Amino acid sequence: MEISEQLKNRFKNSKTILALTGAGISAESGVPTFRGKEGLWKQYRAEELATPQAFQKNPKLVWEWYIWRMELISTKSPNPAHFALAELEKNRSDFNLITQNVDGLHKKSGSGKIIEIHGNIFRNRCINCNRTYDSDPSKLKNSTDCPNCKSLVRPDVLWFGESYDTELLNRAVTLAERSEIVFVIGSSGAVGIPVELARIAKENGAFVIEINIDPSGYSRYADLFLQGKAGEILPELIPYFV
Ligand code: APR
Repeated sequence: MEISEQLKNRFKNSKTILALTGAGISAESGVPTFRGKEGLWKQYRAEELATPQAFQKNPKLVWEWYIWRMELISTKSPNPAHFALAELEKNRSDFNLITQNVDGLHKKSGSGKIIEIHGNIFRNRCINCNRTYDSDPSKLKNSTDCPNCKSLVRPDVLWFGESYDTELLNRAVTLAERSEIVFVIGSSGAVGIPVELARIAKENGAFVIEINIDPSGYSRYADLFLQGKAGEILPELIPYFV
């Protein structure tokens, strides 16, 4: 990968680095993206599965879909893109990671400083007492009752039409405001708030590097657009930062 001397210096001398990831970073692990040609929303309608109304109307159907996704994701492993970001965290004290992904693969690859702004598919939450539990698909197939109050539990993920967790979002905005280098990796920009984070970062002087197989809704903010697979590009790029 050809990087100019000027950029190499900028990468080496940058202090605060932020990565914002989407489903594309897990694509090479075999986790389907949402809007790609083989994406999840091609086979399913988001409105029928990933909304509070859908869950209220047919919790069984929504759980069937999430249990299917949990079982699928449980068979997948992190790919070189995840490991490259975990390596970056090990080497740069002021590196943070914000992910839209709920698949837990960043944690599995060794990343620790992660903000999961769309939640985590392997955690569920009681709709009544708000207790959270680790999700075990085999148990959920038999019962979706809260052990504490017997009400219904739901996947602890953000659904369409729901608001972001305020505390998580505030942390994400602060990181976007203060980061000198921001990676945007494998996201289409179809969802507004994460794109806003990239805009805020850009407005505050960040150098934005986008890695995607196609241009996206973030590309207008990218100072450097690296077209290709995250699993191939990141392992070549990260050595310039460590
Ligand atoms: N490397 C890099 N980018 C890739 C790769 C890859 N190997 N494969 C696919 N991509 C890119 C696609 O070009 C696309 O821009 O990843 C992006 C995936 O886009 P989406 O499927 O829309 O996923 P994402 O942007 O994460 O969706 C955001 O929408 O459905 C909701 O809550 C859900 O978190 C999700 C949010």
